[in-house]
Amino acid sequence: MLVILKRDNEEINLQAAQLIASAIKKKPSLTLGLATGNTMVGLYKHLAHLHKEERLDFSQVVTFNLDEYLGLPATHPQSYHHFMHENFFRHVNVPPRNIHIPDGGIRGDYDEYCASYERAIRDAGAIDLQLLGIGRNGHIGFNEPTSSLASRTRLKVLSQETLDDNAKSFGAGEDSPRCAITMGIGTILEARKIILLATGESKAAALAKAIEGPITSAVSASALQLHPDVTFILDGPAASQLMQRDYYHRVLKMTALLTPDRLS
Ligand code: F6R
Repeated sequence: MLVILKRDNEEINLQAAQLIASAIKKKPSLTLGLATGNTMVGLYKHLAHLHKEERLDFSQVVTFNLDEYLGLPATHPQSYHHFMHENFFRHVNVPPRNIHIPDGGIRGDYDEYCASYERAIRDAGAIDLQLLGIGRNGHIGFNEPTSSLASRTRLKVLSQETLDDNAKSFGAGEDSPRCAITMGIGTILEARKIILLATGESKAAALAKAIEGPITSAVSASALQLHPDVTFILDGPAASQLMQRDYYHRVLKMTALLTPDRLS
């Protein structure tokens, strides 16, 4: 596990964009797992910039998004389909046939649909690089507290904390979705490499539990401790409750010296 501490959002986005860009340059047909949320907006801007100004080529990249709200059509402004199109896909050259986002419009036979999403990931040769944010309650994807650490893509009921966070984005009088389709923790852990980005003090407690606490289904992100190649990229407020900050700084210095590839 590598914990990279950065000064601000801009530095975080730059670092994450660099890691993604070099992964694509090494493997143009990269299978990229994507996340939505406020944390990702700046990163997608950077990647769009790299595409436009430095010809970063997404033409062979295959993408799988983590999750989508159940019951929202792709055209709904709060759907993750809409988010991804507006913030990322319309600015880069991922071919539409290579884009996979769970379908929030399905009705019934959820298990069959979710199994087909898992099959599509397997058929693509597994996810090479999975991007994650984290919820205040430690969720990754929409794996809410008490999700099985072995869970696969499935229908998931959203927690009250997530509903409260989401309520701000939906219009007054508009019901926010109660459920989502999400990759499971077991699905996420099968990615070859994982990068988790987080900013702000509201994430500090969840990150301290995820990185330095016991592995527990009460904090889904703590399952990442089981993964051999996870990089957390955090700003100061998000890292403020970590006990081992000095150690992470020392590891970072040595990483830059001995294995600089891990940082660029
Ligand atoms: C979104 C997702 C969620 C978010 C998390 C943080 O696809 O999987 O786990 O990453 O809720 O959201 P923000 O960045 O809005 O704080």
